[in-house]
Amino acid sequence: PRHFAIVPAAGSGSRMGASRPKQYLPLLGRPLIHHALSVLCEAPDIDRVFVVLSIDDTEWARHDWRGLGGKLVPLFCGGATRADSVLGGLRAIAGEASPSDWVLVHDAARPCLAPWHVDKLIRELAGDEVGGLLAVPVADTLKRADAQRHVAATVPRDSLWQAQTPQMFRYVMLRRALEGASAVTDESSAIEAAGLRPRLVQGDATNLKVTYPLDLHLAEWILTNREG
Ligand code: CTP
Ligand code: MG
Repeated sequence: PRHFAIVPAAGSGSRMGASRPKQYLPLLGRPLIHHALSVLCEAPDIDRVFVVLSIDDTEWARHDWRGLGGKLVPLFCGGATRADSVLGGLRAIAGEASPSDWVLVHDAARPCLAPWHVDKLIRELAGDEVGGLLAVPVADTLKRADAQRHVAATVPRDSLWQAQTPQMFRYVMLRRALEGASAVTDESSAIEAAGLRPRLVQGDATNLKVTYPLDLHLAEWILTNREG
């Protein structure tokens, strides 16, 4: 099977509170989204990289993406939610993808994606029927709160993982799952709701999602101090 990447990049970055969507904020001299796109485009196993942009995106055309090569394809078909954007991308590539081809969905807002993250995910899931996602074991002790913000329970963390991206599933399964899902925040939840069991592939905390201003500083530190 082939491997396609879909990068949802149609969000507005409301929690970042910047004057433009966070995927276009400068990070070490390039737009934030450029970092993950470059890793995906350079991954030998990935055939094409589709970026899902908002239909009224005004930023994409202002930057030069040619250095990323011929695998990169912008699609102006973003939706109201992340899941809608991913589904829009899946529909747009229907002519190109076979049912059993793999789709790796990666947040535009995770600029510290490393080549080994992609390689490990693809390698560990290669023989799997369903697919799975990068994730890291939860480090903190978790509390469930009641309405008055008292601790109602301590949630044992030993079997809890934090979901990251890429999340990698078969084209037809992912499309069916997302067509049938409502209010999911990642691909895995849609697959789970369809009764399937995604596998967790252990990544690491460097693959953080840039959500708040602090995350931008952390991402810059990670990229600057990464070896190789
Ligand atoms: N995303 C998308 N389409 C949407 C909403 C989000 O493609 N309608 C993308 C974002 O661009 C981002 C990824 O999904 O790359 C993860 O979403 P999130 O971190 O929530 O980004 P935003 O929705 O832009 O941020 P916020 O929720 O703070 O507004
Ligand atoms: Mg959002």
